[in-house]
Amino acid sequence: MIIDIGLNQATAFAPATVGNVAVGFDILGFALDHIGDRVTVTRSARPEVRILAINGADVALPEDPSKNTATAGLVRLIADRKLDFGFDVTIDKGIPLGSGMGGSAASAVAAIVAASALLEERLPLPDRFTYALIGEAVASGAAHGDNIAPCLLGGLTLVRSMDPPDVIRIPVPPAINCVLVHPHMRIDTRTSRGVLAAHVERAAFIEQTSNIAGFIAGCFTDDRDLIARSLRDVVIEPQRAHLIPGFAAVQKAAFAAGAMGCSISGAGPSLFAWHGPDIDPAELSAAMVKAFATVELKADAWHSSVNGLAAHLVER
Ligand code: HSE
Repeated sequence: MIIDIGLNQATAFAPATVGNVAVGFDILGFALDHIGDRVTVTRSARPEVRILAINGADVALPEDPSKNTATAGLVRLIADRKLDFGFDVTIDKGIPLGSGMGGSAASAVAAIVAASALLEERLPLPDRFTYALIGEAVASGAAHGDNIAPCLLGGLTLVRSMDPPDVIRIPVPPAINCVLVHPHMRIDTRTSRGVLAAHVERAAFIEQTSNIAGFIAGCFTDDRDLIARSLRDVVIEPQRAHLIPGFAAVQKAAFAAGAMGCSISGAGPSLFAWHGPDIDPAELSAAMVKAFATVELKADAWHSSVNGLAAHLVER
């Protein structure tokens, strides 16, 4: 449902997303169903951004609008367009912080989608992408569009280029779904990026590019076996696995329960697993949650399509 409230106030919902999708570090991502952040933006008289409230966050988030992921893009928007009005912003976090579920991207996207509805002309998609990316960069110290793109477009996306924006929607076989398991711990994206080596060995580069090519080909040709063979991260996952207690056991449990692929969601610590129609998602997620319990980590699980809705305006 799309609702404009007299062009004075708008609320947008933006979904949680899984970045990287094992083989596409910083370039692939998909949107999850149901879970996400909401941001309400109200036009204000002065050309400035004010954060009125941040609800649902269990750690303190920056209250300076140029440092908050939801509002940094709006600050730039006002300056770029020389707007003679500003934005008051209320952020309702639905995505756990530091979970690897694209929370910073969701706040940034929801804010720009809501603010765009208050402009004389809505921002074109490439501009929404660019302004949301500013918020994401504030949060993680580096611009990467793998969460922003599926959050804005829905489904599974490939960011071929951030500047200029070149984002491609990838079809996903409808019979594939996913489970996402979130252990009760946080990993800061900066920390998770900080452990990565600057260079990739040639053999790993060849294997990873084979896998991403196979994965994309499998998505376009509805070849689930090819997708399953290709969903293997030989570059990033081995460098980050040690940040997640029980990672190897959880991944092993997912494969034993029939997952097509299982890897770290974004920067972690959540893990996602893709599965076909022959697998009961409740059994798959239970196996993963049980494996986390062996290292004394409680975990939540979601079952979702890999084709979640794009960010959209909602009733407050
Ligand atoms: N692609 C990013 C990373 C996602 O893995 O660091 C983090 O949100």
